[in-house]
Amino acid sequence: MAEPGGSGAGAGEEETPASVPGQTQSSSGRVLTPEERDRLGCDRVLVSEFRQMKLEKEAQKNWDLFYKRNSTNFFKDRHWTTREFEELRACREFESQRLVLLEAGCGVGNCIFPLLEEDLNLFVYACDFSPRAVEFVKQNPLYCPERCCAFQCDLTKDDLREKVPEGGVDVVTLIFVLSAIHPDKMTLALQNISRVLKPGGVVLFRDYGLYDHTMLRFKAGSKLGDNFYVRQDGTRSYFFSRELLAELFEGAGLHLAANDYVLRETVNKKEGLCVPRVFVQSKFTKPDRSQSS
Ligand SMILES: C[S@@+](CC[C@H](N)C(=O)[O-])C[C@H]1O[C@@H](n2cnc3c(N)ncnc32)[C@H](O)[C@@H]1O
Repeated sequence: MAEPGGSGAGAGEEETPASVPGQTQSSSGRVLTPEERDRLGCDRVLVSEFRQMKLEKEAQKNWDLFYKRNSTNFFKDRHWTTREFEELRACREFESQRLVLLEAGCGVGNCIFPLLEEDLNLFVYACDFSPRAVEFVKQNPLYCPERCCAFQCDLTKDDLREKVPEGGVDVVTLIFVLSAIHPDKMTLALQNISRVLKPGGVVLFRDYGLYDHTMLRFKAGSKLGDNFYVRQDGTRSYFFSRELLAELFEGAGLHLAANDYVLRETVNKKEGLCVPRVFVQSKFTKPDRSQSS
């Protein structure tokens, strides 16, 4: 994925499915070289508390400015979700069953529009922090109120049940969003999502994994905490281990169904380099009543 705020490689890099050549899905993450380990170990100075508070206060503004600068041109359509969703839609209890999806942190809709095009019996709720991103979603020619409902929301603060019926969603997609949220607030976002997910419903997750190339590229002065960094444009990024991710979701009452690192090498054309990318791709389910009792 192209890095918002400029420390990463080319756009759309995470889209290739895990089954393609050159990409592996693994329960063990990337092993650092001794030099990389030293470099990360030396980066101990954290951004000041004052600046960290300012970044948190201005998180929405910084994402909105990101979309002001990039409009709809930054992220490419995400075909990974289309493939995963294929599997889920096969689970319909009856053929004409309408599936309801929530795309939490939808950006400009790169994940939802390919899905809406492919599955005509799908209703999508889509929310994002950035009012400008939501406006781009609504302006997309494929947006129609009969099949989509896009709204602005801070997943860590605004109760999703104001817009989405409690237990009314079959599938939630959470794609490169949790990493943008302060680690102290991630559980709040997951609890919020869990309330609108129906028992038996699924969360599809993909995000930055520990020791992704972009994590190692942050310059001194960008570190906010363990595995948490700020980009030049003020947007932030966390890099997940499988273990931490499982803990976070389980803390929000969701059960682990799949949780792997996706490791791949991508070519950074600008720098003429082959770079190791690490993502975490996971599925979590909301226990139905029999499982939770
Ligand atoms: C890297 S973008 C990914 C967008 C989209 N999911 C995609 O894959 O193209 C991260 C998105 O998370 C949104 N975001 C960050 N913090 C959020 C929050 N607290 N509540 C809702 N959305 C948030 C940002 O506005 C941004 O659109």
